[in-house]
Amino acid sequence: MRMLRSPALVPRPSQLTALPGRFTFDDRTAIRATPGAEPAVSLLRTLLAPATGLPLPVAADGRIVLAVDPGLSGLGEEGYGLTVGPDAVLLRAARPGGLLHGVQTLRQLLPPAVLSAAPVRDAEWSMPCVQITDVPRFGWRGAMLDVARHFRPVSFLRRFTDLLALHKLNVLHLHLTDDQGWRMPVAAYPKLTEVGGVPHGGAYTRRELAELVAYAAGRGVTVVPEIEMPGHVRAALAAYPHLGNRPERQLDVWRRWGVCDTVLGVHDEVLDFCRTVLDEVMETFPSPYVHVGGEECPTTEWQRSPAARARVAEQGLDGPQALHGWFMRSIGDFLVERGRRPLAWTETGRDLPDAFTVVPWRDAEHGLAAAGRGHQVVMAPYRSTYLDYPQSARPGEPPGQPGQVVDLRTVYGTDPAPAHWQPAAAAQVLGTQAQLWTEYVPTAEHAEYLAFPRLCALADTAWSGGRDWPGFQHRMHLHRARLDALGVPGRPPTHQPPGEETP
Ligand code: ACM
Repeated sequence: MRMLRSPALVPRPSQLTALPGRFTFDDRTAIRATPGAEPAVSLLRTLLAPATGLPLPVAADGRIVLAVDPGLSGLGEEGYGLTVGPDAVLLRAARPGGLLHGVQTLRQLLPPAVLSAAPVRDAEWSMPCVQITDVPRFGWRGAMLDVARHFRPVSFLRRFTDLLALHKLNVLHLHLTDDQGWRMPVAAYPKLTEVGGVPHGGAYTRRELAELVAYAAGRGVTVVPEIEMPGHVRAALAAYPHLGNRPERQLDVWRRWGVCDTVLGVHDEVLDFCRTVLDEVMETFPSPYVHVGGEECPTTEWQRSPAARARVAEQGLDGPQALHGWFMRSIGDFLVERGRRPLAWTETGRDLPDAFTVVPWRDAEHGLAAAGRGHQVVMAPYRSTYLDYPQSARPGEPPGQPGQVVDLRTVYGTDPAPAHWQPAAAAQVLGTQAQLWTEYVPTAEHAEYLAFPRLCALADTAWSGGRDWPGFQHRMHLHRARLDALGVPGRPPTHQPPGEETP
């Protein structure tokens, strides 16, 4: 018997058996759906319509069956089972979210032209018969996008969300504030975006963000907001100097890159500000996790500030350097009271209060230290997940974050829970995410060029384990046609970005 070739799916399903025959769509192909499958029906129709023009009506005798069956075991929140036969397609999941991922598999089983935005004439819309059971290894598979350093309009965020969902990535972490910009409007503090939204771009409206959250949810993606504190806040201080350690000083929104000395003060008004901002953030973002930054917070200003020294004495702390932990605990407790889970970058794995889920961005071993202290961990070590580093040393690469190369193989080969970790520590790892910082990334084209194909590698590793580099390369060769159909650039952008801005 001739071996059947497996379709090139990204990420690779946990179990796939190729079967003989093909299922062909035509104008009469209809969908049958059980209660709970409506979001998946809507997604399937939305995704297939532009290229195919297929009506895909819902009908009781539809040959494509989308079924939510809570009794199905072993599929969890996000897994699904798919059987494609010559006459029928059956997609099943225990939860609606599993069906959304199964829809992306159906999309990838069709010819790559199905991903085109415009009608494709005279194509045969057929797929190979398969039997798939597919369950992700990790529940957190994400990408952080820095919209503070360079603003990206919400149309880009929607497209980026679509690209994440295609790869079964389920978290879009939005880095909304930093020294160089504040992009989320806060009704109680309008100057945050009036002042902080000006350089490098603009700001969103609440409505745009709420609509993005709904759009992402319809694709199985949770939008996790990040509001930086107590460092990386220069844009906020430019708007409201009284929140700083020297209220009399008027600062500008920073126009340089790097770590800025100016940080939030530690007086009561500052905590009130943070709580008010976070309340508004939580109104817009239902995500269980709320990211509050926490990294790269110089303590020089606190050492010099009488108000900060008074806070140290009042709290019985060891010194101004201990104010960081005090600050993060105050904010973390507030989020917990509101029923959310605080999330922050960790610099050592030992620097955050227990309630925090931590994101180690320096060394992977900081993740191990954090897991050992009982933290939940989302792995983001810069050597393998920072996509602002160039992806090769080839001369044509656009200038990026200087220092090193993060190539596709490194992203693919980095296990979020490394094999040498004890099982108890590995069990603390929720998953992993890539970081797209945008200091050096002024255009949408450049952002997509940096994100892909490296996000494909992260998705493959986080979903299915990442232990077959030759197999991944083979699948990526074919997957490139899908990225091409979507218009994701495969070459460096022609527009060369500026280097560091000067004041
Ligand atoms: C970071 O790279 N500032 C987390």
